[in-house]
Amino acid sequence: MKKILIIGSTGQIGSELSVRLRSIYGDSNVICGYYTPPYPDGFFEAGPAVEINALHIEQIADTVKQYKIDTIYNLVAILSATAEKYPKLGWDVGIGSLMNCLDVARECGCAVFTPSSIGAFGPNTPQDHTPQDTIQRPSTVYGITKVLGELVSDYYFDRWQVDTRSVRFPGIISSMTLPGGGTTDYAVEIFYKAVAGESFVCPLKAGTFMDMMYMPDALDAAIDIMEADPKRLIHRNSFNVTSMSFDPEMIYAQIKKYYPEFQMIYDVDPLKQSIADSWPNCLDDSCARNEWGWKPHFNLERTTADMIKRLQNKLGKK
Ligand code: SER
Repeated sequence: MKKILIIGSTGQIGSELSVRLRSIYGDSNVICGYYTPPYPDGFFEAGPAVEINALHIEQIADTVKQYKIDTIYNLVAILSATAEKYPKLGWDVGIGSLMNCLDVARECGCAVFTPSSIGAFGPNTPQDHTPQDTIQRPSTVYGITKVLGELVSDYYFDRWQVDTRSVRFPGIISSMTLPGGGTTDYAVEIFYKAVAGESFVCPLKAGTFMDMMYMPDALDAAIDIMEADPKRLIHRNSFNVTSMSFDPEMIYAQIKKYYPEFQMIYDVDPLKQSIADSWPNCLDDSCARNEWGWKPHFNLERTTADMIKRLQNKLGKK
């Protein structure tokens, strides 16, 4: 039975991964580490929750020892657009949390999952069907922290056998907790605007393709990679995974099927546009499929239907 610590459990991924992990491994076996306060929806009360600043290694170490943790999910990051505005913060948080988790894991014998991202690629990476192993020269601070995360995680495995594994997440679409400061966030915000009956101002140009994934698939990826048979893993940090690739026009057209009056206008944010332009259009995730059976279930159509249903309930709209 795993004993899991999630660091960053109140963020976009953490708030849903906590619930899923507790349903699999048991409430008392999943410890929710949070920095921003927990949401008042009661799920934290189902199991242990601990305030942790990931930049304070002793707080991670104390929790790992107290609860005899064997697996750490390190979800702490400053997303791409915010990290370009505050590069030192992006670096300190991304690298600081990673190194603290790796050092505690090395001392205490834990496995570690730290997500990488499509942001780990850059302008001279092949943009279509981006291979698993290819050029990684990102032009953002966020991307640099993710490449370093991949390299140093492999280093801790090769040198000290710390069981590090991860996936390169695309933009994640979800209804429970909003992302903040990312370049792919538009693909979440557009749903909120449509369901609220408002128009949407798109910060990226038509024709800007990026990989995306609906949250249930992202949770499967984060759990399945940590459950994978290590003998089958040729790669570790980090696997390309994707569910779909679209541009603003395609997601707009899907949402219009439910809200024919919905309007989208463009007001391009040069920072976000330049970041998006430097990222792949679509990843090749065949290594993840072959080495640990990755298989997504939600395409753009299914994601749109489910997001709209959930947001209608959440926002009390029909
Ligand atoms: N969603 C992230 C961002 O846009 C990419 O991994 O920054």
